[in-house]
Amino acid sequence: MIREVKAKDLNAKRFIEEQVQAIRTAVGGDLAINALSGGVDSSTVTMLGHRALGKQIKTVFIENGLMRQGEPQQVVGLFRKLGVTVEVVDARKEFFAALKGLTDPEEKREAITQTFYKRVFGRLVKDSGAKCLLQGTILTDVDETVAGIKRQHNVFEQLGIDPQKAFGYRIIEPLIALRKDGVRKIGKALGLPAELFNRIPFPGPALAARVIGEATPERIETVRKATAVVERVLGDTGAFQYMAILHADRVTGIRERRREFGQQIEVRCWDSVDARTAVPTRLPFNRLEKLALEIIKEVPGVVSVTYQLAPKPPCTMEAV
Ligand code: XMP
Repeated sequence: MIREVKAKDLNAKRFIEEQVQAIRTAVGGDLAINALSGGVDSSTVTMLGHRALGKQIKTVFIENGLMRQGEPQQVVGLFRKLGVTVEVVDARKEFFAALKGLTDPEEKREAITQTFYKRVFGRLVKDSGAKCLLQGTILTDVDETVAGIKRQHNVFEQLGIDPQKAFGYRIIEPLIALRKDGVRKIGKALGLPAELFNRIPFPGPALAARVIGEATPERIETVRKATAVVERVLGDTGAFQYMAILHADRVTGIRERRREFGQQIEVRCWDSVDARTAVPTRLPFNRLEKLALEIIKEVPGVVSVTYQLAPKPPCTMEAV
């Protein structure tokens, strides 16, 4: 049982000191590795890991083909300014091969988990000689996985899976007692710029969590373009999270006086504190209209744009 540390009770300086010590003890004289996606959790773990381990940690960005527009370059550039070297590992082919033909949400999540931990990290750990992986699992990931709602890609021990046996390395999780608001506090105290610690959450399975049905390179590209519009148009709302979802069903549309059997994008924008519950943001109608017009202009093949209105629960924030 993990004891939750609430953001309001969190002494950032003390937490960082304790975790730095705990990481040093756990890693000993070995080499550790960590995957940075540029999200709040993995960015915070990267800073914590580098503070604790210096040259004994290697940070990689896994280019899985499922990230947002320009994300690898942007994340690598931001961390270079913070003095952290990030190596980009191109694993696009492996992820798309694993996702091929899969439409079931849990099967898609499982395929991403196996590709990430077993194939890509298994190889990286072997090649580098690292003995453990540092990662930014937080309490909300554990809760939802244990409750059987969604198999979060980064939860093992609580499901009775021993990473050492399953993948050949240990996993260290310094943020496991925190929720998102606590992680932001720690990230800020570790010197992350606001554009990183205030970044909207982005799920581990990345854009594959936002494509209903098969996540092919083409369908991921469609949701990637729509995501760029949604993030641009809603960037100043202060909402907890906003996203575009690509539906599996097509609908009849009309373009240049011809029938177009087109794609549907659903926009979601959430107000939430800790992601356990959430309500749709009451966006003004003119903002919704702007979203629709820009999405149909910039995303080829889209003829329908809708806004999601149900709260979580029973909805979840991501669609997959
Ligand atoms: P849901 O969709 O479960 O999302 O209501 C709650 C919050 O968690 C994020 N999320 C994930 N984060 N790995 C993560 O690190 C995952 O597999 C994952 N799935 C969802 C989601 O973006 C939201 O902020």
